[in-house]
Amino acid sequence: MVFKFLKFFSNDLGIDLGTANTCIYVNGKGVILMEPSIVAINTTTKEVVATGIEAKRMLGKTPSNIIAMKPMKDGVIADFEACESMLRHFIKKVITPKHRFVMAPKIIISVPSGITSVERRAVRETAIKAGARMVRLVEEPMAAAVGVGLPVAEPCGSFILDIGGGTTEMAVISLGGIVLPKSLRVAGNEMDDAIVEYLKKKYNLLIGEKTAEDIKIKIGSAFPLDEEMTLDVNGRSLVEGLPKMVRIHSEEIREALKDTLSMIVSSVRDVLEDTPPELSSDLIENGLTVAGGGALLRGIDKLISQETKLPVFTAQEPLTAVVRGTGKMLEELEYFKEFPSD
Ligand SMILES: Nc1ncnc2c1ncn2[C@@H]1O[C@H](COP(=O)(O)OP(=O)(O)OP(=O)(O)O)[C@@H](O)[C@H]1O
Ligand SMILES: [Mg+2]
Repeated sequence: MVFKFLKFFSNDLGIDLGTANTCIYVNGKGVILMEPSIVAINTTTKEVVATGIEAKRMLGKTPSNIIAMKPMKDGVIADFEACESMLRHFIKKVITPKHRFVMAPKIIISVPSGITSVERRAVRETAIKAGARMVRLVEEPMAAAVGVGLPVAEPCGSFILDIGGGTTEMAVISLGGIVLPKSLRVAGNEMDDAIVEYLKKKYNLLIGEKTAEDIKIKIGSAFPLDEEMTLDVNGRSLVEGLPKMVRIHSEEIREALKDTLSMIVSSVRDVLEDTPPELSSDLIENGLTVAGGGALLRGIDKLISQETKLPVFTAQEPLTAVVRGTGKMLEELEYFKEFPSD
């Protein structure tokens, strides 16, 4: 009863501060916010003009006194002030006014496994400045594994692969700890860049990042499709400098993504090769679970399964796996207190 009462007043949050998207889990309520990690700032007054979806619409279209920017790069904070402003706004959005007078929130926030202690400190300080009372950092692969419901505390190996916007995180997990982490600064953004380059080279067509991401989401794939697709893409001709339309096939986009995907696959194979045999044998049954936005790329499961000879599962709602993990850790703090964090 007392616990329920306290929970009603609790502001505690689980946050996935991602390169592409920020997600927030509110204790007792679930995932309340999922918005692009973008903030638009007035350069004269330094005030925040917009955040998230609203700021994304402004990208590349702002007047000279407003800049819309992405404060996260490769999974870490690239612009501290902008990141703090963005986070403060997001936190304000999820904490209802009647709860604001209560204590500042305790926050569990996920960080990539490969970051330096300076980068960790930056995340902690940014969260404190943005309004947290206490901050606990957890490694992204662990949060993702908890979020998708893998048996992380059991004495058996689970493999989690989280393909985000800026980083691909992978780990073998057993007995509540990460046995083998690997973090790769190659993920969804790199795929978008590869599409831009491919169309530039093959068709002399210049497109923006946003269009490249749309193409990837609409017709991108990692494995041959049952029915291949086409898409008409508008851009600017590098020859005439005029607007130009080209019909693109899904096979071409697969070709464009080949190198990025093979980097991810070869890292997965490296981790598998270093996995101790007892855990390795668990993976034959438990397979490998893919989370993060990259898990939504068509046929990524088939490609990884073909290359590793292991069963591959796609997480349900892969975009919120990490934040749901931080949420579970928040709600079952007692249970997870033995888990590594700082
Ligand atoms: N249907 C889809 N097909 C392919 N890629 C997709 C799809 N939907 C989203 N993505 C990609 O997923 C990425 C975003 O995923 P996610 O939100 O997990 O990243 P993040 O957590 O913000 O980044 P990081 O973990 O690297 O910091 C983007 O690159 C986006 O283009
Ligand atoms: Mg992520």
